Amino acid sequence: MKNLLTYIKTTAMGYIMNSTLIYYYFRLKSTPLLFKYEKPVNFQGRNPHCKIFKGNTFISEDFEIIPVPYFEDNYSYLIFDLKFLTCVVVDPGDPQLILNMLVQENWDHSAGNLSLLNGLKLFQKHFEGIKVYGGLKDFSGFFTKWYTGVKNFVNDKDEIYVGRLCFKVFETNWHTSGHSMYLFDPIKSLNLKENNDELALSYPCSLFCGDSFFSGGIGMFFEGSSVDLHNFFTTSFQKIPTTTLLWPGHEYAFTNFQFAKEVEPNNLAIQFRLKDVKHLKYINSSSVPTTLAQESQFNPFLRIHGQAAKIVAAKRGTLISDYGGGGPEEIYSSVKNLLSERVKKIEEELKDELKKKWKRVEIREDELLEILVLQCLRVLKSEFIPSKL
Ligand SMILES: [Fe+2]
Repeated sequence: MKNLLTYIKTTAMGYIMNSTLIYYYFRLKSTPLLFKYEKPVNFQGRNPHCKIFKGNTFISEDFEIIPVPYFEDNYSYLIFDLKFLTCVVVDPGDPQLILNMLVQENWDHSAGNLSLLNGLKLFQKHFEGIKVYGGLKDFSGFFTKWYTGVKNFVNDKDEIYVGRLCFKVFETNWHTSGHSMYLFDPIKSLNLKENNDELALSYPCSLFCGDSFFSGGIGMFFEGSSVDLHNFFTTSFQKIPTTTLLWPGHEYAFTNFQFAKEVEPNNLAIQFRLKDVKHLKYINSSSVPTTLAQESQFNPFLRIHGQAAKIVAAKRGTLISDYGGGGPEEIYSSVKNLLSERVKKIEEELKDELKKKWKRVEIREDELLEILVLQCLRVLKSEFIPSKL
């Protein structure tokens, strides 16, 4: 990583990206302050609420991904193209923290987290030509556009190139209507013609999920519902390789796996994972990343959808062994037991929503059941009271 310091001294471009906002800088070369890069070691001084001291870096020959914990449980991510000297930052919720990592000087701003607008000004002060990207539906409103600085809007299925780094956009409207995930595809970024399993393991994709998915869970249904989530599972989800690394916007694993254990008490993968994340929490360490294949073993929301589960299982091959668990059937009965008569009310509400949202006239019984269980799981999760360490 020492070499990176030298690289950045002479490099030409750097970028910042957010799952809701993408910042893009260039002409780093003319920015004299941007010449020192320090790996995050201990954020306690900067973010007194942050309990995670260190994230797990993922490094390949060409790229490096570094999680940056901030606030109580948030993550930003730095993505470096080590050869073409490009840097992308995902979710710069604490811009000063990011800048402190990238630059040598200490800024004269007071302690505490800057607002996004102030953060943007801070970036603009030091980097020319910032471009800010965000989901069209979330950020095109006049006021939102102004206070977030978003000028470049992305839609579902868009492909963005930052230098040679290639990102695909996935709209995840069960959280907010324009919420987006960004899939970093190293194989496409490297312009490799071949794409086989071996290559996919050497150069796994990285999914920056924001509030859409977490290890062991999913985001809240603010502006969407399980209808939208189910729709995602039957369409875009199938295009994401199972070797993909998941980099969520929050460290929620300990709570999520306590809940998962309640839903699937016989799933050994969940029990092992809960033990692991408990230990990681105890030593103030990060639980990210996981892979999509792993999540298919222990994330109840990914296990309920028959088709999604089947796709992941079929593609998983021998990547990981199956630790058992009852799967969808166990989750169905567990959810019904836990919610008892409330299930009926949820079902009625969903049927109304389906009529409005679903273009298809026919809805299969098994699909309806999956949507219902996803919705029930989300309701149960919102009411779940986790134990503390
Ligand atoms: Fe969030």
